[in-house]
Amino acid sequence: MSILLLAGSPAIPSNSSRLLLHIGDLLAARGHRHSRLHIRDLPPRALLHGDSEESTIRRALAAVAAADALVIATPVYKAAYSGALKAFLDLLPQNGLANKYILPIATAGSQSHLLALDYALRPVLQALEAKQVLTSVFCTTHQLQWNDDAGLNLAPTIAARVQSGVEELSGLLRHARSGGASVHAVGPHALPARSLRDHPYNANSQAA
Ligand SMILES: Cc1cc2nc3c(=O)[nH]c(=O)nc-3n(C[C@H](O)[C@H](O)[C@H](O)COP(=O)(O)O)c2cc1C
Repeated sequence: MSILLLAGSPAIPSNSSRLLLHIGDLLAARGHRHSRLHIRDLPPRALLHGDSEESTIRRALAAVAAADALVIATPVYKAAYSGALKAFLDLLPQNGLANKYILPIATAGSQSHLLALDYALRPVLQALEAKQVLTSVFCTTHQLQWNDDAGLNLAPTIAARVQSGVEELSGLLRHARSGGASVHAVGPHALPARSLRDHPYNANSQAA
């Protein structure tokens, strides 16, 4: 079954994207294939104009449609999720998350907006008819450290929370597969999974 890692930060490098890619690696280690979609890579004009017919946007929407599960990452911006993510979610059809499991994750500057995912993002995911929105993962910048040599270092509580989110999602997908749920192909635009370290989101400056 296919998983789409959806990165909702407009920033690079990006804490939430690093955490997302780490989760992707953990899922891959459990035998789940995944593809990635970074909203910041979509054409901004088409995104802001809500142009779902633009070719790159169409491929992105097809990637969502093809996925059995999405891990959706966002920074907390102004006590909610990113506007870039909202612009993309607004392009989905009303039932655009039907039959999909969703694991939401966020990074934030502090614990002040701990509930941002639950009060802001979760209702939108449910309005899009997600099959199940898993318990979210919320991580402050103090709980997540990046080192170019050592990679991502998570505080023990976050590492445990991430582990349990990954195991829950993995278990749901295995259960769905054993129950004969449909298997979707990954869209033609989808990038193959690469290791966390290799990804340009981990560079200190934007890759060419
Ligand atoms: C425009 C902007 C607004 C932010 N608003 C909040 C906020 O309301 N609450 C908070 O805890 N952190 C806030 N932050 C901090 C980010 O959530 C935090 O740095 C996060 O890790 C960024 O993730 P990213 O690197 O994936 O974009 C804000 C950062 C920016 C740039």
